[in-house]
Amino acid sequence: MIIKASDGREFPVEMHKTRMVQKITLVPAEERLKAIEEAGYNTFQLKTKDIFLDMLTDSGVNAMSDNQFAGFIKADDAYAGSMTFYEFADAVKDVLGYKHVMNTHQGRAAEHLIAKIFTTPGDIVPTNYHFTTTKAHIEILEAVCLEIYYDEAIITESTNLFKGNMDPQKLRDTIKKYGREKIAFVRMEATTNLIGGQPFSMQNLKEIRRICDEHKLLLVLDGSLLCENAYFIWKREKGYGNKTVQEIAKEMCSIADLFYMSGRKNTSVRGGFIATNNKELFEKIKPLLPVYEGFVTYGGMSMREIGAMVPGVREMVEPAVAGCSIEQIKYFVERLLETKIPVVTPPGGLACHIDAMKFVPHIPQSQYPAGALTTALYIVSGVRAMERGTISMDRDKDGNEQFADIELTRIAVPRRVYTVSHLEYIIDKVNWLYKHRELIKGLKFVSEPAVLRFFFGSLNVLDNWGRKLCDAFKKEFGNI
Ligand code: F0G
Repeated sequence: MIIKASDGREFPVEMHKTRMVQKITLVPAEERLKAIEEAGYNTFQLKTKDIFLDMLTDSGVNAMSDNQFAGFIKADDAYAGSMTFYEFADAVKDVLGYKHVMNTHQGRAAEHLIAKIFTTPGDIVPTNYHFTTTKAHIEILEAVCLEIYYDEAIITESTNLFKGNMDPQKLRDTIKKYGREKIAFVRMEATTNLIGGQPFSMQNLKEIRRICDEHKLLLVLDGSLLCENAYFIWKREKGYGNKTVQEIAKEMCSIADLFYMSGRKNTSVRGGFIATNNKELFEKIKPLLPVYEGFVTYGGMSMREIGAMVPGVREMVEPAVAGCSIEQIKYFVERLLETKIPVVTPPGGLACHIDAMKFVPHIPQSQYPAGALTTALYIVSGVRAMERGTISMDRDKDGNEQFADIELTRIAVPRRVYTVSHLEYIIDKVNWLYKHRELIKGLKFVSEPAVLRFFFGSLNVLDNWGRKLCDAFKKEFGNI
């Protein structure tokens, strides 16, 4: 909830209290330098013992509610026909309006099945913006993930409230250019992750639906961040202020033919699911489920996780849950704007994103500015963020670098995990880093896998800048 203080300031207040805690430690700067060296300057390779605040992602690291823990314990363990699955299916029907649902072990497993069934080599999948795993699945099948966004989507500092919109004219042009038969499906991603957690509007979703109808194309909604997008529509779109987040989420779902989500985000449970009202589509996917995931009443998840997902689905549309990280991110972004830190605006869902090309403009894209900034932030703070720039893109078939549209350091805000004082700590360290930004230099790859290289790739710093940054930090604060 946002509180307006008597002096006019606004700040987020958590609508939950902490009833179980996990100890965290801040290892000294020297140890952090050693840890990041050993991790090949890749924050995915760090161990949590060396991390103070883990802002890598909001996926699989959110705090579950007491009801979810109860669901976890009460779950009905059965290979087939578990009543917990039917409770889950009822929750999906009530909240999202879908009659048919199947679990998958996580979001990318849903993407795998959807890509496998609906895509053939040479196909095009138009999307408002790609996500890394979606694109990988589509490209493995030798199809093309084609981004059709408004130019504004990749302008980091903007006042456009719906940068996640798909450009309808470009979609029409694409259909005309490639022919309807070449389009596997049209994909809309809620709270579009890689452009800084930016939503699309309901109006845009409806327009895309109309085009899909005209051409009899399948519309797939990636709802991994569905509720944040619904919350943004509630707050930002004309005509939706009087509706509930739940009604908006359901309306969004009613527009898509096929829906999938990573439960690791909105439901705070490690799993995912595919849902639809189209029985024919459901029956097409179902036979592959036991091959890759598991029987249809568990789909690769444990019954216990499904038990926790039942309240998770019902609670995710509550404004205090759907909006909890959004309001923290808004505060985070606005505080950084006070000191002119280049961050993605308007504030999005999922994370506070720093525009690395503006923060460290002296680092060329070929030396991975967002990766370098992410490394530097860890050295000075113990905060683990994630590179979302060129390192997160793979090379093309000929080995050429594919430069990202934007270079972001993503400081994710998991749901109900961190407090405003944790954010203040990060804000302070980002400000210090900005004053010393000339100490940050580029990175180069030492070893580099061909697919999703950002997970396992190993890099090195140019000119030993990690040591110099660490020494400058220690000179001011000591080895803390
Ligand atoms: N779609 C979107 C929009 C996502 O953000 C993610 C995951 C997935 C699909 C895949 O889901 O992880 O359950 O397999 N995003 C995570 C992140 C990994 O850190 O942003 P998954």
